[in-house]
Amino acid sequence: MKEKIFVPPIKIQGIKTKLVSFIRENIIMNKNSVWIEPFMGSGVVGFNIEPTYAIFADTNPHIINFYNQVKSGKITPQIVRVFLNEEGKLLEEGDDKYYYIVRERFNKNHDPLDFLFLNRSCFNGMIRFNKDYEFNVPYGHKPFRFSKAYITKIVNQVEHIYLLLKMRSWEFVCQPFANTIAMAKSDDFIYCDPPYIGRHVDYYDSWDEQSELSLYNALLESKANFMLSTWDHNDYRKNDYIASIWRNCHKVTREHFYHVGAKERNRRPVIEALLTNYEVEECENLSSGAEYQISLF
Ligand SMILES: C[S@@+](CC[C@H](N)C(=O)[O-])C[C@H]1O[C@@H](n2cnc3c(N)ncnc32)[C@H](O)[C@@H]1O
Repeated sequence: MKEKIFVPPIKIQGIKTKLVSFIRENIIMNKNSVWIEPFMGSGVVGFNIEPTYAIFADTNPHIINFYNQVKSGKITPQIVRVFLNEEGKLLEEGDDKYYYIVRERFNKNHDPLDFLFLNRSCFNGMIRFNKDYEFNVPYGHKPFRFSKAYITKIVNQVEHIYLLLKMRSWEFVCQPFANTIAMAKSDDFIYCDPPYIGRHVDYYDSWDEQSELSLYNALLESKANFMLSTWDHNDYRKNDYIASIWRNCHKVTREHFYHVGAKERNRRPVIEALLTNYEVEECENLSSGAEYQISLF
């Protein structure tokens, strides 16, 4: 039977909803392990694993603020419902003009409820900040954007997390990945989903070869088991960093389809990879193959 995946209230580009089951099948944890997620993004992976203990971190302060306010009870499902009912009505009356009023307000006050509103009404549910750290995604035009059904869906998503947070020991921390990885003890499990090199769209989210190397070194120093999500290849290119920076890892892969537009012929396959520092079933040991000549270390 297909596993039901919980989709969180804050969306992000690169969300791993479709890969949660694949990731779950390949993790190694015991009941005392802390789930450590240095690049939480939407949080969809850890939120579905539902560990007892977790540290969710990200450099984007707005994601972290939102969940800290849900945890403290400053944001409740009922508060979200009232807020989205009111703001949704104003959006319907003011259309894009009102969207840009909220965007400006958010860029001054950084209210997490405004962040939720923008994330759920902007173009393609993207998160993107300019060089002055201002949210700059345009409006995603749609009549009745905050319909009753849509508001209920978002409220249910918030409620799911709100209830989980009452039963779990989860921390949300705004910090760079190296600080988060340094918090891991040998029994813990680190799941990393960094931005992909060359797909930089956001100033909280820049990533280059040096970042990838620093991540590798931070993970190498850790005593914990780790897993890294990355892409392996598509029809045109392969990810050369797997054979260079990550060559000492074990690898499992899975095909995944991205949809570009609605047409069937626009389905683009990409092979996603999970790299680990432990053996997983049917994994490939990257260092057992050819010798790679690299000058990265
Ligand atoms: C690909 S997204 C993670 C997606 C997430 N796994 C999901 O399914 O929603 C990468 C995240 O890393 C964060 N990030 C970028 N650079 C970072 C850094 N140096 N340290 C910590 N987080 C960073 C971004 O803000 C973004 O939320």
